[in-house]
Amino acid sequence: MMNKLTMPALMAALSTLWEDLPGTGREVARCSVSLPALDALLHGVSLADLHPMMPARAIRARQLSFLAGRLCAEQALSRLGCVAANVGRNADGVPLWPEGFVGSISHSPTLAAAMVGRSNGAGGIGLDCENIATGERLESILALCCTAAERVLLQPEIYPALATLIFSAKEAGYKAIAHWLSRIPDFTEFEVCRFAPGANRLWLAPVAGNEWHGCIAPFAVDFVLGPDSVQTIVDLRACRQRWATDQIADAIGG
Ligand SMILES: CC(C)(COP(=O)(O)OP(=O)(O)OC[C@H]1O[C@@H](n2cnc3c(N)ncnc32)[C@H](O)[C@@H]1OP(=O)(O)O)[C@@H](O)C(=O)NCCC(=O)NCCS
Repeated sequence: MMNKLTMPALMAALSTLWEDLPGTGREVARCSVSLPALDALLHGVSLADLHPMMPARAIRARQLSFLAGRLCAEQALSRLGCVAANVGRNADGVPLWPEGFVGSISHSPTLAAAMVGRSNGAGGIGLDCENIATGERLESILALCCTAAERVLLQPEIYPALATLIFSAKEAGYKAIAHWLSRIPDFTEFEVCRFAPGANRLWLAPVAGNEWHGCIAPFAVDFVLGPDSVQTIVDLRACRQRWATDQIADAIGG
């Protein structure tokens, strides 16, 4: 039988599990939690009532990762002074942030994380966490996500990590710019146009000939590459990209 747990009790129990990630400061907060640790904490507890946006019919693993992402997001918001907010969800699954904030949520099999910042009316934020791909998943990433130019970057001894990085960067990039786009781009419509591994940074841009080429300027993706995992971060608030919004709207007839 499942036990009930109240939100305040959960938040108190969670206080030992939060990990503040580098980059947390006055204008931005990043927070993550280990999914196995949260799972252990919530063993035998019904998750359905623990968040108002909880997908009620989802299996427990999905409810756990959804809850973990929302808890990270709401913890990050509270670090920026936005206390007791709920991060909503539109019909397409896009998170709805409280007025004045932008953010992003990601989960991997082992981790949930969120990054939140104060909105300055410019661009959004994108965060993505991936375990380094192997086997069929790696083959799919190579086949579906990497352009010919990107395959040249894949040094043989570390190509699984670099291929996963390119995939993750595109996911984070998509999350940051999705609100500008009228459709979901294929992974090969954006490409790494500059790679600075020493600075843990790469830049993405629409490929030449693409409808967004010239409308969306190259944007930076910061990354943390670990032995088993990669995290990528796009923060477009700092970019002078506001001009792009109107041009994208023109290009797509919006
Ligand atoms: C939506 C998508 C970005 C999710 O990424 P993912 O790596 O599969 O999963 P993650 O765990 O990292 O992220 C999931 C979270 O993204 C958020 N999300 C979903 N759709 C989103 C959107 N359109 N914009 C921003 N965030 C979105 C949600 O918060 C979701 O978590 P939740 O359902 O628990 O709230 C991905 O599945 C997708 O559809 N990508 C489109 C194709 C693409 O990225 N092309 C690259 C072109 S450059």
